[in-house]
Amino acid sequence: MNSHTTEQRIPGSRSLDVLRKQYVGSPAGAPGVGGPRGPMGGPRRGGGPGVHAKGKPKNMRATVRRLLSYVTSYRWQLLLVFCFMIVNTAASLYGSFQIKPIINNLIDPTLSASARISALSGSLLILACVFSVGIVTNYVQARLMLKISQNTTEAIRRDLFHAVQELPVRFFDSTPTGETMSRFTNDIDSIDMMINHSLTGIVSGVINLVGTFIMMIFTNIWLTLITVIFLPIFARGGAMIANRSTKYYSGQQAALGAVNGYIEESVSGQKVVKVFNHEDVCVEEFTTLNNDMRDKQFRAQFWGGIMGPIMGNTSQITYALTAGIGGLLCLAGRFDVGGLALFVNFSRHFSMPINMISQQMATIFSALACAERVFTVMDQPPEEPDVPGACTLPADAAGCVELFNVTFGYVPEKTVLRNITLRAEPGQKIAFVGSTGAGKTTITNLLNRFYDIAEGEIRIDGINIRNYTRDSLRSNIAMVLQDTHLFTGTVMENIRYGRPDATDEEVIAAAKTASAHSFIMRLSDGYQTMLQGDGANLSQGQRQLLNIARAAISKAPILVLDEATSSVDTRTERHIEHGLARLMQNRTTFVIAHRLSTVRNADAIMVLERGEIIERGNHEELLALNGRYFELWSGITELD
Ligand SMILES: Nc1ncnc2c1ncn2[C@@H]1O[C@H](COP(=O)(O)OP(=O)(O)OP(=O)(O)O)[C@@H](O)[C@H]1O
Ligand SMILES: [Mg+2]
Repeated sequence: MNSHTTEQRIPGSRSLDVLRKQYVGSPAGAPGVGGPRGPMGGPRRGGGPGVHAKGKPKNMRATVRRLLSYVTSYRWQLLLVFCFMIVNTAASLYGSFQIKPIINNLIDPTLSASARISALSGSLLILACVFSVGIVTNYVQARLMLKISQNTTEAIRRDLFHAVQELPVRFFDSTPTGETMSRFTNDIDSIDMMINHSLTGIVSGVINLVGTFIMMIFTNIWLTLITVIFLPIFARGGAMIANRSTKYYSGQQAALGAVNGYIEESVSGQKVVKVFNHEDVCVEEFTTLNNDMRDKQFRAQFWGGIMGPIMGNTSQITYALTAGIGGLLCLAGRFDVGGLALFVNFSRHFSMPINMISQQMATIFSALACAERVFTVMDQPPEEPDVPGACTLPADAAGCVELFNVTFGYVPEKTVLRNITLRAEPGQKIAFVGSTGAGKTTITNLLNRFYDIAEGEIRIDGINIRNYTRDSLRSNIAMVLQDTHLFTGTVMENIRYGRPDATDEEVIAAAKTASAHSFIMRLSDGYQTMLQGDGANLSQGQRQLLNIARAAISKAPILVLDEATSSVDTRTERHIEHGLARLMQNRTTFVIAHRLSTVRNADAIMVLERGEIIERGNHEELLALNGRYFELWSGITELD
């Protein structure tokens, strides 16, 4: 919101030692560290908090319960999915089971050739039916699950967006934008992955495991016992590999986030990099990050991509053992060849669901951590609700603004404004001047209750602003903020933002007041020109003129202009002076300007220093005082 929060970041201006400590020195994927930092130390979007995703949620029960509350509206569909999974697994197992009769019939010496062929074709027919059922159930189940996960994440995204819209300015001033963004992107993506893949993976894994186990017992109990003895060994091995690969994977993700963040920041800040000749430092820092990513990726791929399959292959030991012992049983006439073929087929696939379940569990934990962070943002206290019985500040309010002993600090330990008392009569023009950081913008932040004050009182038309509804208060204060902002949309739409029901003619009239009309007409599509990326295709001064036009279209009786014309050249400024004067007519106006010529005709000028009004009066009175204003005016001292 304030200019000092939008300071330019210069990639490549950080000591490598600090970087090394931050990226390389930290244990891979250490959870809870808040993800990788940007080149200047800020958390990164993309790799930011989404990365410590691999940590476990702090309050798992509450998170699961809350997630379930989103999913339970689809409980019938979920039940259907579950049924389809069972049918699907049963079909697949029954399909495998056909190996037994196929082989046994083929090698049965008592059967004639034609009987064998008819038995074989019978089995093939059953196989065709069974696999058709498998295909259909798989399709329906996947579709249903996709729908459930998409609807759920849509609802979570909607609730999160609603919650974010209600958050106080304090939240946005103290939370990096990238961090809030990654709640919407990385974190919700992880939740989507969990619902769509991991949950179904685990459930179908368990069904598979149970089904296979039953079939194994049914086929041969002794061979099943041998498999079961080896089971804990593979389960442990699988869990160990899953653990390691998850740990290294989170390290890889963190490194990836850091590299992506660094690229993003240095590409978008390329001009600043070039201005300060930081190219070499940038390359050096990037190399450090890049090497780190290579190492972490190597470990992650090694454990996830190589060790996993190797471990999987060692489960072939049971395959060999059961094949050997089963063969002996066949020779002894206590088992049939078809049954043996079937059993080794089952035992071979037995360890698969175990590995899958342990891997999916890790994904689920990390997604729950993501969900927890999303819910944390949702649970942030919204702007304080209007007091009971709050009244509406009417649209035809007079606009008398009074501050009584207002003392305020953004954080308790640092007071920014001290004992500010002033009174602006309806239609008066009050100016604030003073050094950077003196507290000028802060005063305007209090007027429209971006921040609430703890000490003192602000009244509009004689009533404490806390007793007005926030909406009616804000709709009566038109503001040109120090940080200009334009939305993606046409010029017309951007100006109309100030009053959605304004007609095209009113928009054009407002643009003329702000002296924006002539440059708008020179744009390729005039008022229909699309603005993108915060009006990147406009000059800074033109952006300010559009922001003034947006305030001009509003009929609010109170107007705040915070450095509204600071980027406009003096000639244009003089040009719009006329329009501004018209705009200020009959409105109580607060003007903040470093350029003192802009404020000299104000009814009262307040000179602020370190949060206090040290001088007040009109231009002549202040000059006569021969104090700070005089110094500023005559340029004896420079603004610090
Ligand atoms: N969101 C914030 N959180 C914490 N401190 C803040 C915040 N915004 C401003 N401050 C602090 O409050 C003080 C006053 O800031 P303010 O933006 O009001 O100054 P200003 O007079 O408008 O300066 P400028 O002329 O540069 O715009 C500064 O010391 C600043 O560091
Ligand atoms: Mg300011």
